[in-house]
Parts: sequence; C-alpha cells; structure tokens
Amino acid sequence: MTVESNRQRSWRGAARGVLAIAACAVVWSAAPLTQAQTQTAPDPQDVAEGMSIYRTKADCQTCHGWAADGRKMDTQMPDAPSLRTTRLGRAGIVYAIKCGRPGRGMPAFDRQAYKDAARCNGTTLADLQKSGQSLSDPAATLQPREIEMIADFLFEKVIGKGAMDHAKCVEYWGEDVDACREFAK
Ligand code: HEC
Repeated sequence: MTVESNRQRSWRGAARGVLAIAACAVVWSAAPLTQAQTQTAPDPQDVAEGMSIYRTKADCQTCHGWAADGRKMDTQMPDAPSLRTTRLGRAGIVYAIKCGRPGRGMPAFDRQAYKDAARCNGTTLADLQKSGQSLSDPAATLQPREIEMIADFLFEKVIGKGAMDHAKCVEYWGEDVDACREFAK
C-alpha cells in the first residue's frame, strides 16, 4: 500500500463525514419547523376536544374559570392564576398540568406523577411528604394526548389573547351564549 493511496482513502472518509454532518444538520433544522407548524395551527378538533376536557373531565374551570382568566367557578376552590397572561411556553404548560404544583393547590393530572420519578423531574411522593408539600387530587387523571389537546386549546384560545370581551366570548363558545351577556357588545 502506498502513502498516496492512504491519503486518498482518508480524504474520501473525511468527505463522507462532512456529508453525514450536513445530512444531520438538514434533519435537525427541519425538526423545529414542523413543531412550530403544529403549534401555530393545531387541529380544530383537538382544540375543541381540549376545551371540552378543560371544562368537564378535568374541571380546570372550577379553579381557573371557564375563560381561564382566574375567575374561579367555585368559591371553595383555591385562587388560581389567569392562564391568559401566563408566561409559560408549551413545555411549561404541559409540565404544570402533568405534575401540578405540589403544596400550591394545583393538582397533578398525570396518573404516574410522583409515582414514576421520571415523570416530574425525579421527584417522588416520598420527597413531597418529606418537604410537607401536599398534592391535590385531580377531578380525573389525563392521558398525555389529552394534556396535549388542552395545551392546543390554551394556546389557540386563551394564552396571550388578552382579556375576554363580547366578540371573543362569542368566538370562544362558537355562539352568543348566556355566559357572554356579562360583556358589553
Ligand atoms: C383545584 C384547583 C385547580 C384545578 C382544578 C386546576 N388548577 Fe391549575 N392552578 C391552580 C393553582 C392554585 C395554580 C397556581 C399554583 C402556584 O401558585 O404555583 C395553578 C397553576 C396552573 C398553571 C401554571 C400557570 C403559571 O403561569 O405558572 C397552569 C398552566 C395550570 N394551572 C393549568 C391548569 C389546567 C389546564 C387545569 C386542568 C387540567 C388546571 N390547571 C386545574 C389551581 C387549579
């Protein structure tokens, strides 16, 4: 084997390496794009389903209000913040729903939260007990897919949409329902 052919061979190897890196870069840069697309345009059916779970199955509205503006529907419930002005991004919203806020009145909706340590940042029920943080029970536990649909609903109809008014109320419910009467036309 000559020195020359060795060098040629290593050049070919290097070129292949560069190609592989370029291919990775294309895949990597395409991934956030598709994620952003699903975030800006969720399936309307998922949004409707998320809204329904928010109002009924998970009963988020009892604490956060039907408009998610922090006007709770049950005075016995803890004061919950408006989600319209939250600064959380999607991952933060999903995490808050899954793991709740131990010791602060926000229930954890993932059935495995704090049971499977991997779910909530390595924290377990034993850790919560040790630090005296109580965990409120959710109305129902939710599948990851249901939590994603609630996030779709929140980002489409609640977060960053400003205060509720009559026009937004009609859009929110899909018609001029009784709940919209409190807002001036
Ligand atoms: C029993 C009352 C209660 C229910 C039910 C409830 N929450 Fe909460 N939620 C709270 C409270 C109280 C906080 C504030 C916790 C804190 O101080 O950190 C909170 C915080 C949050 C936050 C974090 C907001 C932020 O900006 O940090 C999100 C997101 C949230 N809730 C979404 C939901 C969703 C979605 C549901 C239904 C799946 C739900 N909550 C059900 C009481 C509740």
